[in-house]
Amino acid sequence: MERVLSGIRPTGKMHLGNYFGAAINWVKMQDEYECYFPIVDWHALTTRYEDISTLSQDVWDLILDLLSIGIDPEKSALFIQSLSPDHAELHILLSMITPISWLERNPTLKDMVRNIDVRESINYGILGYPVLMTADILLYKATVVPVGADQIPHLELAREIARRFNYLYGEVFPEPQPKLTESAIFPGIDGRKMSKSYNNYIGVTEDPESVKEKVMATITDPQKIRLRDKGHPEVCNIFTFHKFFTKDLETVEKECRSGDRGCVACKNELYNNLINYFAPIREKRNYLQANLDLVKEIVRSGQEKARRVSSATIQEVREHMGMSYGFRNI
Ligand code: TRP
Repeated sequence: MERVLSGIRPTGKMHLGNYFGAAINWVKMQDEYECYFPIVDWHALTTRYEDISTLSQDVWDLILDLLSIGIDPEKSALFIQSLSPDHAELHILLSMITPISWLERNPTLKDMVRNIDVRESINYGILGYPVLMTADILLYKATVVPVGADQIPHLELAREIARRFNYLYGEVFPEPQPKLTESAIFPGIDGRKMSKSYNNYIGVTEDPESVKEKVMATITDPQKIRLRDKGHPEVCNIFTFHKFFTKDLETVEKECRSGDRGCVACKNELYNNLINYFAPIREKRNYLQANLDLVKEIVRSGQEKARRVSSATIQEVREHMGMSYGFRNI
């Protein structure tokens, strides 16, 4: 089986945008690939180094969410990046063969340089962000990397670094290919892209009361003011939500267009379907929350599974770089 690796940044609880945009794909990939899913807390630190008070909670929240939506520890290694020193070691070795000029081409970095508010806070870690990401991938010799479009330049750099390593020290790394997650852009309750930073999100395991409030506050067709007004589903966020949760979409659309359906009834139906869709996931999460020892055990074994692969790669890298000094597994 080919190996998949995707690093997941801990940004708090998973919302519908994360779920339909990325996470649902990871769940599906588990049957076709050997999957590695590190929670990349070092990557998170590159920008939130001042704000560590909830880092640990964010990491556990993410792990609980991932297990609840169907990441299966029997199939996939779910682990924490910073608990494996191999990630740090490969990062430092790759940093030696990565020209700064390659890193300065990184569009994410260029955006930050252009932005006067963040320019001053760009640190060494941010410059090296794609090198750390390359280490994450190459340690497991992953060939398939599911990412959103914004990560494509990082992947290109990862391939360049892999090629440069192989050229300098001998063939060790396969070149990782991106697999674009068809990013279903999921709208937030205000119609912009759903995002933590816009505070327009609905959490996958958010409690039903609060989901209800958010659904009721969601902006619908601005031209549909009265109950009997004819609606335009194509501009309605609630209709977009229905596409993910409602089987009989045709009826929703017909009744909206003809004015036979009011927005409140439509929202109630959506709310019920959404809550039902995520009921098993909420249940699983409650179970895990009550059995945190089990979760810790899962991470421990994910950590070990990952380490078996990464330490073999590190050994090979040291040998190719003439730094094993006659020792094995030291
Ligand atoms: N940069 C990725 C993101 O922002 C996270 C990440 C870190 C990653 N290491 C990775 C993704 C390795 C894929 C492979 O989402």
